[in-house]
Amino acid sequence: MTDTTKTASEQDRVLIFDTTLRDGEQSPGATMTHDEKLEIAALLDEMGVDIIEAGFPIASEGDFEAVSAIARQSKTSTICGLARANYKDIDRCWEAVKHARSPRIHTFIGTSPLHRAIPNLDMDQMAERIHDTVSHARNLCDNVQWSPMDATRTEHDYLCRVVEIAIKAGATTINIPDTVGYTAPRESADLIRMLLERVPGADTVIFATHCHNDLGMATANALAAVEAGARQIECTINGLGERAGNTALEEVVMALKVRNDIMPYRTGIDTTRIMNISRKVATVSGFPVQFNKAIVGKNAFAHESGIHQDGMLKNAQTFEIMRPADVGLADTSLVMGKHSGRAALRAKLKDLGYDLGENQLNDVFVRFKALADRKKEVFDDDIVALIQDQATSA
Ligand code: KIV
Ligand code: ZN
Repeated sequence: MTDTTKTASEQDRVLIFDTTLRDGEQSPGATMTHDEKLEIAALLDEMGVDIIEAGFPIASEGDFEAVSAIARQSKTSTICGLARANYKDIDRCWEAVKHARSPRIHTFIGTSPLHRAIPNLDMDQMAERIHDTVSHARNLCDNVQWSPMDATRTEHDYLCRVVEIAIKAGATTINIPDTVGYTAPRESADLIRMLLERVPGADTVIFATHCHNDLGMATANALAAVEAGARQIECTINGLGERAGNTALEEVVMALKVRNDIMPYRTGIDTTRIMNISRKVATVSGFPVQFNKAIVGKNAFAHESGIHQDGMLKNAQTFEIMRPADVGLADTSLVMGKHSGRAALRAKLKDLGYDLGENQLNDVFVRFKALADRKKEVFDDDIVALIQDQATSA
């Protein structure tokens, strides 16, 4: 069983909480089947995700069944379900996650002025609701996460008050959601720091950061929160999630690995499994990964320009800060196109089994450039055809 509380108390360990199957699946059109969810959960478990948020059990019979089945199959990850701040949701959530070796209930309520207006609760009534629901969850399960939804737009004094109530009622993780992707890195860090300084008992729980990407700052905001003391990052594979998505797991994990010199924190993720799960999530969700997406995009390890290709052939570190193998990719790809130079063509020909003399190479290079001007990408078959043409016209 993963004891997430103990593990994270090590100063440099950051827990990875994946919510691809809950917040990610909430992207319009990203619905996954029961079997697909189980398959993704197994991959998340194998890659070392500390906590898997498997779904929202009260939302539908299908969600309940998927969370229960994931809980039963889990090997090392903690399995979490989401519940609104009412007993019915929390009981249903517990029924689903209780089969896990390490279960967690995650309950939440919107605390900002805009969100408080929805259930029409005043500040005191909401505080009481938080106390009662977190206590109820804690009576069922030792591992309770509580989230003040829209925390980044909640008044600081009120946020401190309700976080303190949740801790006293037994929450073991306090998640601080930037529900609408509104915050910015410095503010994200200041908020966590403020809570750690002002809330009595803050040092007894783990603070989590949950960022959305509406302004394209989800990864930066999550990392800033970690630097301020958060020790759990909530994220999804490929950044899947409502609107512009959530913090992308692969981005925060690789940022912490590659820039460990300035961000000295560790995760338990086997990064060599990243590419495989990224492709799986893209396929089952029907959300393709954009070509230039950090870490997992088709072009993330591809080079076309002559200067870059030449540099890569001499020393891969010239234009790559990560090794493709670190994210589970076989190799860098040198894309042959109009920006490619003679060195890349020579290397490509060698790969294809052709060792040409200088004159022959010059001739193929001229014809390769002419073709590349007409075609976006010149494939191996095109290059072989150029050689064959040369042989027949010689
Ligand atoms: O973005 C959000 O506020 C959420 C909560 C349910 C944690 O996803
Ligand atoms: Zn969210």
